[in-house]
Amino acid sequence: MAEAAKKLEGAALTRLLTLVKTHTGITMEERKRDMLTARIKPRLRLLGLESLEDYIDQLEQGKVEIQDFVNLVTTNETHFFRTQTVWDYFQNEYLPEWYKKNPDTILRIWSAASSTGEEAHSLGMVCEEFRFKHPSFKYKIMGSDIDTNVLAKARSGVFKDRTLDELKKRNPVFVEKYFREQADGTFRISPVISANLEFFQHNLHKAAPKGLLFDIVFLRNVLIYFNDQDQELVLSNMHRSLKPEGMLILGESESLARHKTQFIFKKPLIYMKG
Ligand SMILES: C[S@@+](CC[C@H](N)C(=O)[O-])C[C@H]1O[C@@H](n2cnc3c(N)ncnc32)[C@H](O)[C@@H]1O
Repeated sequence: MAEAAKKLEGAALTRLLTLVKTHTGITMEERKRDMLTARIKPRLRLLGLESLEDYIDQLEQGKVEIQDFVNLVTTNETHFFRTQTVWDYFQNEYLPEWYKKNPDTILRIWSAASSTGEEAHSLGMVCEEFRFKHPSFKYKIMGSDIDTNVLAKARSGVFKDRTLDELKKRNPVFVEKYFREQADGTFRISPVISANLEFFQHNLHKAAPKGLLFDIVFLRNVLIYFNDQDQELVLSNMHRSLKPEGMLILGESESLARHKTQFIFKKPLIYMKG
């Protein structure tokens, strides 16, 4: 494999990065070469291929599963309640204000680029807490991602290891209230929450399915993987998917400051459809 890894430079590297861009929209820098090589390496063995170039040839000729490749190249890091300020806003400002204006409507939330579902499930827990105080409150959460492996995990509603341990430390009451420990030591989300959650595959570079309009979209820690032009394309897709005055929430290191968009800045990471 040292041989094969060595070859991932020059033309082969350019071809691979082009394949990444074509199939995911991700603009990957050349310095990510070692990470890419490490992720593809086990695939070569499984497919009985000799070198990275063989794999690239097969990808270009559509002879290996493109979805497998997409799943390999995405970075899926996520946590429950990532970035506390966003959750403080959603719980203490957004929900009470939205409900006051829309007491008889279903709140529609989109966790776009949901990865393994921690964000969507965090939204579910906060919405359930709100519903406890306001029994007529109704919500629906949609989660989407381009990666089918993470979507399968998100749909299972089963969590374990680091992400669940973190939640136990930060919010043991939520774990107690909204999860059931299973015989194998994993934790399954309560059916009360999963009944309001749905996951679907979606590439953010494409228009969202027609007829899906949201009150609030969480588009977090994904714009960073796209170049400026593609970020604006994704943002205009999000704009179309929001209801009038809908809100857009970004990740901790993201901002629309240098982009031409129709969003209005409300506070750091929080924008309104203009
Ligand atoms: C770092 S995770 C962020 C997860 C979550 N939003 C958060 O903030 O914790 C980025 C996710 O974006 C997804 N992604 C990358 N490119 C995408 C695209 N073009 N369309 C949809 N999802 C994409 C990846 O598969 C990955 O699960």
